[in-house]
Amino acid sequence: MAMRAIASRKTLGGGLSLLGLRASGLGLAQLQCRGLQTFTLPDLPYDYGALEPAISAEIMKLHHQKHHQTYVTNYNKALEQLDDAINKGDAPAVVKLQSTLKFNGGGHINHSVFWKNLAPSREGGGEPPHGSLGWAIDTHFGSWEALIKKMNTEGAALQGSGWVWLGLDKEFKRLVVETTANQDPLVTKGACLVPLIGIDVWEHAYYLQYKNVRPDYLKNIWSVINWKYASEVYQKESA
Ligand SMILES: [Fe+2]
Repeated sequence: MAMRAIASRKTLGGGLSLLGLRASGLGLAQLQCRGLQTFTLPDLPYDYGALEPAISAEIMKLHHQKHHQTYVTNYNKALEQLDDAINKGDAPAVVKLQSTLKFNGGGHINHSVFWKNLAPSREGGGEPPHGSLGWAIDTHFGSWEALIKKMNTEGAALQGSGWVWLGLDKEFKRLVVETTANQDPLVTKGACLVPLIGIDVWEHAYYLQYKNVRPDYLKNIWSVINWKYASEVYQKESA
C-alpha cells in the first residue's frame, strides 16, 4: 500500500460504529477501535505541467483529479458497504463487493505509486538509477536499456487496459517485470512482489496526447521516470 495513501487515511464518524454495535453485539470500546478507515486523493509532488513534453498538463490534471479521484470515491463507498454488510452478517453482500473493492482499491493503490514514479526532468526525472538498484538491473536484465526495452515491449503488448511493472520479489531477492490487467495491483501476481516502477497503460494515461500510439507514450515516459524513488524503495525492501 502506498505510504501516501496510508498517511492520508481518516476515520469516519461514529454512526457506522453504532450500527455495528446493534448488529454484532461487540462492546463499544472495541467498536471505537475498529473505526472505518477511508482514503483521500493524495497531492501530486509537482505541478500538472511539470512533466511536459512527455506528459501534457491536460492529461495529468484529468488523470489525477478525475480518474484517480473516482477510484478513491468508489473505494470508500465500497468500504462503507462492506462494513455495513459485515455488521449485518450478510455473507452474499460481502462476497459481491470483492470485485468492486479490488478494482477501485487497486486503482487507488496503483495511481498513488504512479505519481511517485514520475518526476520533472529538472528534478532528476529520467536519470538512470545508480547504486544497488543499478547493479541489480544490470545483473537481471543485462542493462538499463534492456530493461526499458522489455517493459516497453510488454506494456505495448498488454491487451486492453492495465499496468507494466518493475518489481522486487522479496522472497527470491530478484527483480521481475510483470503486467497486470485492469487495476490489479502488482501484489496480485505474488504476495512477495513490491512495486518499484509501475507504468499506467490505460488509454486515459496517454490518449489525449498520443492518440492510439501507446508505444510512443512508453518511449517518452522514461524521460520523467523517478529512479531515485525506485532506488529508495529497493534499498528499503531488499535490506
Ligand atoms: Fe490511470
